[in-house]
Amino acid sequence: MHMHKSRWQTAARLAGCALFAMLSAAAGAQQEQRPNVVILATGGTIAGTAATATQVAGYTAAKVPVEQLIDAVPDLKKVANVKGEQLAQVASESMTNDVWLKLAKRINVLLAQPDVDGIVITHGTDTLEETAYFLNLVVKSRKPVVLVGAMRPSTAMSADGPFNIYNGVAVAASKESAGRGVLVSLNDQINSARDVTKVNTMTLDTFRAPDFGLVGYVVGAQPSFYRASTRKHTTDTEFDITNVETLPPVDIVYGYANMNRVPLDAFVAAGDKGIIHAGVGDGSLAAQVKPALIETRKKGVIIVRSSRTGGGPVVRNGEANDDELDFVVSDTLTPQKARILLMLALTKTNNTKEIQRMFYTY
Ligand code: SIN
Repeated sequence: MHMHKSRWQTAARLAGCALFAMLSAAAGAQQEQRPNVVILATGGTIAGTAATATQVAGYTAAKVPVEQLIDAVPDLKKVANVKGEQLAQVASESMTNDVWLKLAKRINVLLAQPDVDGIVITHGTDTLEETAYFLNLVVKSRKPVVLVGAMRPSTAMSADGPFNIYNGVAVAASKESAGRGVLVSLNDQINSARDVTKVNTMTLDTFRAPDFGLVGYVVGAQPSFYRASTRKHTTDTEFDITNVETLPPVDIVYGYANMNRVPLDAFVAAGDKGIIHAGVGDGSLAAQVKPALIETRKKGVIIVRSSRTGGGPVVRNGEANDDELDFVVSDTLTPQKARILLMLALTKTNNTKEIQRMFYTY
């Protein structure tokens, strides 16, 4: 009787082990089936903390580490196998060219791995559009790359960060997102890196593409796309930052009534290789500054005429005779994105005709 019972117990134990092994294998197989998404954290309000749940201004950005951001969204596990890396921890007003190069190089290494299906970057919203456009020009993969941020710190009563991370991972995990260039996903909306800009200092719907509109929505962990930018990106660009350690210095001179040449002269004296003139209207040149721009161009510095308006093309040979002055126009790029394209252009050429071609291509 005793022998019989212990044999039965052993059999039950073995059956239990077999069932456990089967369940683990099934769970493992399910995990393997889910896409692998890497979250690269860079800081921002999405990783910010405030003293109280109601404080949404004057908090400290870039505090919470990536593991904590992931742990705050347990549902991520249902969408993808997620790993996190802390690439930087900055408020995005302090984003630099050096962080961009480090980020782009890391993304290119990760996306070359067969076991990485997509990338999400958590980022402050203030310069998110700039990082997105830089990556749009230098990432060498068709796999999805998605930037997410938040307008409210992680401690806020209805923080937008966790849902934005969830949606961002869903967009990065979807095959639908491949080959669309770098995407920006906040507030259930998806925008293209080239066209998106932050338009509001406070509200959650701050990311807009004023000229061309959003490219899609993400609902129920599923992105839906309605249009795509026609401009070249990622694998179709001529820019390769693999061996680039620093980017050529380019700065922005802002246009306004009664503007003067002091900032322009200071930038040129500091060694800038290019200047983005964020002019009023259609990139118009103030009479008192135009001679300084002409002198600057004669010194070999590239001048790009752009507009501070936030919408519409700057027309070549419109408000200035660009052919005669040997200037470039930014087309529909904002001044901050024109700076990025000019820096990358200058890694290849100083020829203004070539640079103008790039502004009509990207
Ligand atoms: C930042 O850009 O780092 C601060 C603001 C934000 O993320 O919304």
